[in-house]
Amino acid sequence: MTATTAPPTTAPSGAVPSSPAQRTVYLNGDYLPETEARVSIFDRGFVMADAVYEVTSVLDGKLVDFPGHMARLDRSLSELGIRNPMDSDDYLAVHRRLIAENGITDGMIYLQISRGNGGDRDFVYPPADTPPTVVLFGWNKPGLADNPQADTGLTVVTLPDLRWSRRDIKTVQLLYPSMAKMEAKARGADDAWLVEDGLVTEGTSNNAYIVKDGRIITRALSNDILHGITRAAVLRLAREAQMTIEERSFTVDEAQAADEAFITSASAFVLPVVRIDDATIGSGTPGPVARRLREIYLEESRKAAI
Ligand code: PDD
Repeated sequence: MTATTAPPTTAPSGAVPSSPAQRTVYLNGDYLPETEARVSIFDRGFVMADAVYEVTSVLDGKLVDFPGHMARLDRSLSELGIRNPMDSDDYLAVHRRLIAENGITDGMIYLQISRGNGGDRDFVYPPADTPPTVVLFGWNKPGLADNPQADTGLTVVTLPDLRWSRRDIKTVQLLYPSMAKMEAKARGADDAWLVEDGLVTEGTSNNAYIVKDGRIITRALSNDILHGITRAAVLRLAREAQMTIEERSFTVDEAQAADEAFITSASAFVLPVVRIDDATIGSGTPGPVARRLREIYLEESRKAAI
């Protein structure tokens, strides 16, 4: 290090964008090149994780389960008393413009709304008329629906669920899920299932299911888990296909003895789980229920995408 070394003008992000080098992003009413989109360091999303988000998948240039994501966004905002500055049609227009401007065929759109710039850092919320900060950006994920993990299955480890008790609100407080994911990777697994009082809550960024004797078992909705939009769609389709569903908690032992296990999320759709800690699930390959649900979900999602 020499005294003449100029400090970097911006912190190196470390992350390489997967979409156009200069993708167009949305910030508070403007469409901007990503390097020109700036948010205040006083923004409560930055200093307090006082923000909520949604991630919507794009298949064939269309949005999957969009109304569900909008309904959950409304709910997250109202639980936190953050004003929703736009309506669903406005958000739809922004999503569509980002898809078009960034040439997204298969990929994701991320939306985040924070309580805005509260000035000096304060635990007290800023005045209710403080404008929320609205950010959206997207990225291409070619082959999103052809994930090879659908054929191999995922491996998971179980870890204690050390998150807060309002997991039904989709906030950007993602540090513990991120730590759990890193721990899973360090143990050679793909992901972690989180456990509280001996019962599985959900995955780090997905809902968790097991299948036993043809019954699909998944934790009931409560403040303990995120109310997955993919979960709602998959359970509806499973019911329509005359499958039996039990919405109840299950232990790690029960999961390890299950015939099948799987996860759902907007980015993974339905993915089988073939190992939980040291236990092989079923035959150790994706089972028929998870495979069928993935197929039905993708088929119906493509049809209903807007
Ligand atoms: N994660 N549970 C948690 C803790 C999640 O973070 C997610 C979504 C889900 C599944 O919800 P949905 O089906 O609505 O995507 C369940 C998103 C994809 C993410 O953080 O990237």
